[in-house]
Amino acid sequence: MRIVIIGFGVVGQGFCSLLHERRKELIAKYGLNPKIVGITDTGGAAMDEAGLDILKVLEIKRNKKSVADIEGKGRKKTGLEVIEEVEAEVVVEATPTNIQNGEPGISHIEKALKSKKNVITVNKGPLALAFPALMELARYNGVMLKFSGSVGGGTPILEFGKRCLDADKILAVRGILNGTTNFILTEMDTNGLSFSEGLADAQRLGYAEANPSLDVDGFDAAAKLVILANFLMGIPATIKDVQIKGIRDVTQKDIQKAKAKDSTIKLIASINGNLSVKPLELKRSDPMCVNGALNSVKFISQFAGEQVIIGKGAGGTETASAILRDLLEIRNSLRVI
Ligand code: HSE
Repeated sequence: MRIVIIGFGVVGQGFCSLLHERRKELIAKYGLNPKIVGITDTGGAAMDEAGLDILKVLEIKRNKKSVADIEGKGRKKTGLEVIEEVEAEVVVEATPTNIQNGEPGISHIEKALKSKKNVITVNKGPLALAFPALMELARYNGVMLKFSGSVGGGTPILEFGKRCLDADKILAVRGILNGTTNFILTEMDTNGLSFSEGLADAQRLGYAEANPSLDVDGFDAAAKLVILANFLMGIPATIKDVQIKGIRDVTQKDIQKAKAKDSTIKLIASINGNLSVKPLELKRSDPMCVNGALNSVKFISQFAGEQVIIGKGAGGTETASAILRDLLEIRNSLRVI
């Protein structure tokens, strides 16, 4: 299976490492033999129709260089050019999220779908701004658009809601959808760290977005909420429909006040008639009350009642595992190796 990766940060590199580590197992267990035939980063591209040497690619990135610097394989090409020129079954779109206009992700996804390539994206911007249109474009072109890793990192939140609650009716959803802010709030609560110390740690650990305002100002959680609303509840919302308040104004005083009530402050995203993201007090005994970079989502459905799904919501390897999950599904629909 030929794969192109557009955007080669923590997640793209995590995906390559995972493919390398699990190569033998992927062939033996799933009959999947992935070849990375193109990669782009901010410096250009690397292309090889026989498959790029993953270890070489990862080494170049460890040395803080561009994939375009790989000898004999490097090209001065853009993502759009690579998507158009390279023969591949799947395009993995992993450029940074932009919630203003979704670019460059939207153009990459549209180009790939129109050239009949399946798409796996972990980029929340395009989905938060144009979910119905992109799904329609995929259907029209007879290819798949998958986005497991866009909500909950490696935790199968979308799959749980879609498959396990398929016969039920989801009435409302509440959750902690952003790992970075949960990490910061946890540090403020348990270690007395300041907001900026917590943020610096989250950036060091690779949880935060390239532009961390997306995390701390609530936009990342809002984008994920929009994906949940569209995919699970058929609500054709965009990020403009979400009431958003981030955690910049949360003080130690607020946290201590909550503590006195055996609660803590969490950034809660909710779909219940309307869509909102805001810091709220949450009882420590609530199963949704998780710490660190964990995410948790509570589904309230008509017949099955309430379920909470918890897992790591950010991180390169975790999110890469969701890309692999999508890849296997596409492979099953294509029946190629
Ligand atoms: N910045 C995001 C978070 C990464 O902290 O949750 C995963 O989407």
